[in-house]
Amino acid sequence: MNPSFVKCLNAMNQNLHIYDTPIDAARAVANLIQEKAKEKNKKSLPFNIALSGGNTPRLLFNLLSKEYADTIPWHFIRLFWVDERCVPPTHAESNYGMTYESLLKNVPVHDANIFPIQGEIDPNTEAKHYQHILENQLPKRNGYPKFDLILLGMGDDGHTASIFPDNLKLLHSELFVSVSIHPDSNQKRITLTGETINQADEVVFLITGASKADALKKIIHRNPSFESLPASYIHAQSVPAQFYLDKAAAEKL
Ligand code: 6PG
Repeated sequence: MNPSFVKCLNAMNQNLHIYDTPIDAARAVANLIQEKAKEKNKKSLPFNIALSGGNTPRLLFNLLSKEYADTIPWHFIRLFWVDERCVPPTHAESNYGMTYESLLKNVPVHDANIFPIQGEIDPNTEAKHYQHILENQLPKRNGYPKFDLILLGMGDDGHTASIFPDNLKLLHSELFVSVSIHPDSNQKRITLTGETINQADEVVFLITGASKADALKKIIHRNPSFESLPASYIHAQSVPAQFYLDKAAAEKL
């Protein structure tokens, strides 16, 4: 089923793909993941993808489970995470836990190809541990690990991954992975850094809902104070960041 494509705008060096509904935007991302995974599969190469947490990816993961379990070469997929909350995997806020329930228990990704961030251990210890994993499990670009695709969301405040507006230095860190703190809840997080994200072959934002419209307008049109929004700094090396949006999120573009 083709999603109800509204329009594709090339604006400010980003590619915008706007759909009627959140599920249509999610389906377009699912189709992109399927296409890219098959391309790598044809060359017998792994497809290294990093996933974000939050409610929007859950919509995508449920769709992948329901409609793509038999069409994506899951055995060639190697799964990493963009960020994790520092809670056990059984906790309601665990990104790994959410991904397991909505995707991993329904599709045949090999256990050996799943690289969760361990939210249950000391944050500084896990940040070093995950840095080591990325160092050893991924090819490099400009000295940073290179993913084939990174799936990002964006908060109402323009944060992405767990890089928040009060901690922009994580965008330019020499580290691949760092500890971060949510500014409202003070919850500790582990996050990929901006430079790591920006080395990916594809950076895909899936953003839905009217609450994202103001931040998105600032970022896409480089309106005043866009520099204070972490998502403004995200782009991929080989192609501009791809924004998959529903009409509500895109209403002010
Ligand atoms: C996380 C995500 C975070 C998320 C945004 C948007 O762990 O929460 O990585 O960056 O993508 O907060 O979240 P929603 O999709 O729930 O709006």
